[in-house]
Amino acid sequence: MHFLSATFAALALAALTHATTADSPALSLTGTDPLRFFNLPTLISAEKSAANPHDIEAIRATLSLYPLAIDGKNFGSLSLIFAEDAVANYSAPLNVLSPLSTIQSVLEASLKPVTTQHSFGTQLIDVLSRDEAFSVTYYTATHFGRGEFEGRTATAFGQYQDVWRRGEGGWRIGHRNLVYMGPIVGDLTIFTFAG
Ligand SMILES: *[C@@H]1O[C@H](CO)[C@@H](O)[C@H](O)[C@H]1NC(C)=O
Repeated sequence: MHFLSATFAALALAALTHATTADSPALSLTGTDPLRFFNLPTLISAEKSAANPHDIEAIRATLSLYPLAIDGKNFGSLSLIFAEDAVANYSAPLNVLSPLSTIQSVLEASLKPVTTQHSFGTQLIDVLSRDEAFSVTYYTATHFGRGEFEGRTATAFGQYQDVWRRGEGGWRIGHRNLVYMGPIVGDLTIFTFAG
C-alpha cells in the first residue's frame, strides 16, 4: 500500500497542477476510486514532454499485450502487463481484484462462456517520473456467444485508467480502474453458457 499512496499523491499533485476547477475535490484519490471523466482532459499536461519517448512506447507496447492476452485466453501472460501486487477495480460485478493471481483467475472464469475481441481507441500516456506513469485508454470489448449462443454478442464500452511503475522486468500496471462509459449493449445471456 506504500506504493499506492505515493503514486496517488504524485497523481493528485499532477492533477491539481493542471486542473484547478470546481471539480477538483474529485481528485482527492483513494486507491480504487476512478478519476472523473471531466478531469481527464486537463489532467495530463500538453506542454510537459520531457519524458523519454522510449518509455511511452514501452508502455504502449505493454498495454497492447492486454487484448492479446485476454482474447487469446492466455491469462498467464497477464504477468507481462500487471505487477504481482496489482490492484484492479474492474467495477461491478467483478469489483476490486488483487493480487495478479486473482486478476488472472477471475478474468479467466468470468470470460469462460465467451470468446472476445478487445479493441483500443483514444489513448493518453503521461510519464510522471522516472519510475511512474499514468495512462488512459478507451476500449470496446465485444463478447461472442458460444454453443447455443453462437451469433449473439454483448459489447462493453469503457476506459482503463492505469497507474504504471517501472520494475526489474520493465513497466507494469500497479493499479487499474476499469470504468464503463455506457451500458453493455447486446445479449447478456451469452454469459450463462455452461458448455
Ligand atoms: C470501483 O469503480 C467504480 C466505478 O467504475 C466505483 O463506482 C467504485 O466505487 C469503485 N470501487 C471502489 C471500492 O473504490
